[in-house]
Amino acid sequence: MGEPPDRRKFLTCGLGGVLGLAVVGPAVSLVVAPARGRSVTSPTEPLDVGDAGMLGPTWRRVDVVAPEIRDAWVTQKNVVLGAAFIRKGQKVEALSAVCPHLGCPVSLEQDSFLCPCHNSRFGKNGEQGAGPARRGLDPLPIAVVDGRLRLTWVQYKLDTAARVKV
Ligand code: FES
Repeated sequence: MGEPPDRRKFLTCGLGGVLGLAVVGPAVSLVVAPARGRSVTSPTEPLDVGDAGMLGPTWRRVDVVAPEIRDAWVTQKNVVLGAAFIRKGQKVEALSAVCPHLGCPVSLEQDSFLCPCHNSRFGKNGEQGAGPARRGLDPLPIAVVDGRLRLTWVQYKLDTAARVKV
């Protein structure tokens, strides 16, 4: 004589549900866990941009490369974040090569800077000149550590007169 059918059905469904959770739970956790972790989409630590010995009193353009960028599921190595202009006069200075108008790359002319996208011009120290950009080029923190240039990549809100970090 067997168990009543309702009880058997209940036990079968209950056992199936527990087994299903045991399998699906870890799988869902595996997929969702990275999204709950810390994403690094732009490094906040200073980045090495070269030998300090290369600097002189005139601006020089350098690429700013992050050794590693992490998103929830993806890790990329040696990601070019943008570029900066650096020089050494009384002190070492750096300017972002991102145009503060709408973010195009700014180029260095003889003694000034030009953004070709909408013809914004900047003076020899990066100050605002002609064109639609509402502020000068953005300064970036830079230091010399053990003879190496260590630059902190900072992004600012575009098309504003005030410098607001994003
Ligand atoms: S993006 Fe540089 S002038 Fe518009």
